[in-house]
Amino acid sequence: MSTMPTDHLTVGAGAMEGGGAYNAHARLQASGAALAFPLLVEALDKVSTGPEERPLVIADYGSSQGKNSLVPVEIAVSAFRKRFGPTRPIMVFHIDRSENDFNSLFDVLQRDEHRYTASDPHVFPAAIGRSFYDAVLPPESVDLGWCSYAAIWLSRAPARIPGHIVAIRSDNGVRFAFALQAGADWQQFLERRAAELRPGARLVVVLPGIDEDGQTGYEALFDNGNAVLVSLEEDGILRREERARMVLAAYPRRRAELEAPFGSASLSGLSLEHYEMSAFDDPAWLQYQQDGDAQALGLKRALLFRATFLPTLLAAASPDRTAADCACFAAAFTDRLALRFASDPSPLRSYVQTLVIAKA
Ligand SMILES: C[S@@+](CC[C@H](N)C(=O)[O-])C[C@H]1O[C@@H](n2cnc3c(N)ncnc32)[C@H](O)[C@@H]1O
Repeated sequence: MSTMPTDHLTVGAGAMEGGGAYNAHARLQASGAALAFPLLVEALDKVSTGPEERPLVIADYGSSQGKNSLVPVEIAVSAFRKRFGPTRPIMVFHIDRSENDFNSLFDVLQRDEHRYTASDPHVFPAAIGRSFYDAVLPPESVDLGWCSYAAIWLSRAPARIPGHIVAIRSDNGVRFAFALQAGADWQQFLERRAAELRPGARLVVVLPGIDEDGQTGYEALFDNGNAVLVSLEEDGILRREERARMVLAAYPRRRAELEAPFGSASLSGLSLEHYEMSAFDDPAWLQYQQDGDAQALGLKRALLFRATFLPTLLAAASPDRTAADCACFAAAFTDRLALRFASDPSPLRSYVQTLVIAKA
């Protein structure tokens, strides 16, 4: 079933599957982000900008291949158009790690039928290949920041996770190490944005959530992914030491963890204007409830997992692994995961948190 060449998968930890695969299979993330659009519209109403001769700047932090950025950027562009006139130049910076599939991003910006540039000659998109834990834009240059399903990825995995791939399925010691790293990274992310945002700007951050009982809704997704890895090791397709290195450096922060840095002097003028958490069903499940097609559900879930997480898992492959080994692994992983999801159809109801952050 391997649907993509493997070099699109061996791009390194934290990156999404290339060749446009993330764009094709990230409908869950698009649905979660859509819940933040009303808050984005409100935030845009409050943005105050400086002198008219300056272009307006929209920064899309963690854009991936751009498909899921089209609607939020379109919302921002049309709000700015209404408030600041039809010809004021607007620059849109799509920011992601250097390993990101920027070819697919530019293709979307050039050709997608829903591209925000289609009818507005005064919008100028650009891309930056640099971590958002670094400074990515000049001081006080950004009017609107958008960051969706990206800041959950940590700058590094602080520990291995015995027997699993995600920190939420680990013991207290490992979870504590991830919580510490997530706290330091969140502080760093906010400090960088505090410097980049203009006074009067807004930053909207959308993140997967976790409820008071510590449930994210993704438990079955990760448990199934992990069970497939165990089976691949049993069948000799994956080595024990490779599986031990497989860690997803992602951490769902609780509300208190997200709120903690605000008020510290280092955030120079950033305040949390609004926080909201909601639950939603993934679109594959909604479709399954209509058509009862368990195989289609299984395949969508497997391809979502593959596009979002498999490059990170493959980054743990031993250096002697050939492209053919990785292709064999990726195909077997996808097939087995699809089968598991198809044989036990169940909802995937996850949480999404939205933060609206203001720069004084
Ligand atoms: C799950 S995708 C989200 C893409 C898109 N924003 C969306 O809502 O679907 C996460 C993206 O964040 C990017 N990312 C993770 N860590 C990053 C970092 N430190 N700096 C910049 N981008 C990062 C990943 O490379 C990936 O493209």
